[in-house]
Amino acid sequence: SDKKLWSGRFSEPTDAFVEAFTASVEFDQRLYRYDIQGSIAHATMLAKSGILTLDERDAITTGLEQIRDQIESGNFEWSVELEDVHMNVESHLTKAIGDAGKKLHTGRSRNDQVATDIRLYMRDEIEIIRTEILRLQQALLDTAEREADTIMPGFTHLQTAQPVTFGHHLMAWFEMLDRDRERLADCNKRVNIMPLGSAALAGTTYPIDRHYTAELLGFDRPSENSLDSVSDRDFAIEFSAAAALIMMHLSRMSEELIIWSSAQFNFVDLSDSFCTGSSIMPQKKNPDVPELVRGKTGRIFGHLIGLLTLMKGQPLAYNKDNQEDKEPLFDTVDNLKGSLKVFADMIPAITCKHQSMREATMKGFATATDLADYLVRKGTPFRDAHEVVGKAVALGVTKGCDLSDLSLNELQAFSDQITDDVYEVLTLEGSVAARDHIGGTAPAQVRAAIERARQRLAAE
Ligand code: ARG
Repeated sequence: SDKKLWSGRFSEPTDAFVEAFTASVEFDQRLYRYDIQGSIAHATMLAKSGILTLDERDAITTGLEQIRDQIESGNFEWSVELEDVHMNVESHLTKAIGDAGKKLHTGRSRNDQVATDIRLYMRDEIEIIRTEILRLQQALLDTAEREADTIMPGFTHLQTAQPVTFGHHLMAWFEMLDRDRERLADCNKRVNIMPLGSAALAGTTYPIDRHYTAELLGFDRPSENSLDSVSDRDFAIEFSAAAALIMMHLSRMSEELIIWSSAQFNFVDLSDSFCTGSSIMPQKKNPDVPELVRGKTGRIFGHLIGLLTLMKGQPLAYNKDNQEDKEPLFDTVDNLKGSLKVFADMIPAITCKHQSMREATMKGFATATDLADYLVRKGTPFRDAHEVVGKAVALGVTKGCDLSDLSLNELQAFSDQITDDVYEVLTLEGSVAARDHIGGTAPAQVRAAIERARQRLAAE
């Protein structure tokens, strides 16, 4: 059986259940690459500072690289008795290279080691997630460009409000994701700080060079306070909060796609490859992908609260509680990446049902505000215009028709300022084209927004 690396002061073996209960290797083995990367940098710094010989450094480096190969080729035996990824790797190293392996842990502790590993892992994952968001944003830009003239009802309170273009709606999603990507870049500023060298909690008596290790590992700088460094998990919470916001956004997009693809709305068709059928109802084509993304949002919110609660009230410095940070973090990363990937693949495959969107926009008096604005241009104060149009809408409701179906005589009964040029402003094209300023839904503005967005992305 594997000897515990800390067994010196113990006379009784660990209770078998406690051993399994306290072990984290089953899930923290995911960190092996970062653990090895951190150890190689640590050994390199120890040798530069004269704490290890160059031969010892080389033996450690070669040994760790071999272990990495073994893990990656599936030839590494993980042991629960060795508790976590750190002691599994170190123990194998010593078995492979002898005494030099026992010197690796000089001037460090698992407390600063694990904090370093997670930060290296987070840094990589943040980069991957940001790239995945970008891919989804590109898909939105392309689809928005394709649908820049597509007219649909815009909603408030899920009631028809004013005509908008589908391209404008997709660009709203783009903006949400742009903030998300920026938030992750900001979070990474606090992720990319190096705790290594804080040792267990107080620092170490060896003449270490933390700036050098930080440089080797690509960290912006070493952390300032050893007590804070081994206990801080703010960066994990911040990341989870950013992830929760992304999922909240994806859940809103999901909800809209689900509603729009229903027979009652009939605005879009999701590609068959992103839907599933029913085992009993032969006609069904269900929007499982957006539903599942909407559902996964719940567990990501849960992980955020879980991590906040994990840290609440913890005294300085490291506590074993912190081992519980990994599973929520890993699950957040996995499900977030999966949700972004499936969205980036699904968006370009959406087909719009233009005729049906158009017909829906004709219902619900979407151009009522345009009529009011028309009266204002003719000299009616806005509040009076609002009243006049309200009455015209009431007539439309009674007759079961749109404002544009009312005759000129009928309209003029409400205001003598209405003339036959009114029908132009009651068209859907006229309505969207009139919102012609930065941020507005006019197709020309949507195209300009897409162009600016492309330039912004290219400039990064
Ligand atoms: N597996 C531990 C964790 O994930 C590593 C640090 C353990 N340190 C300790 N003193 N028990 O937090």
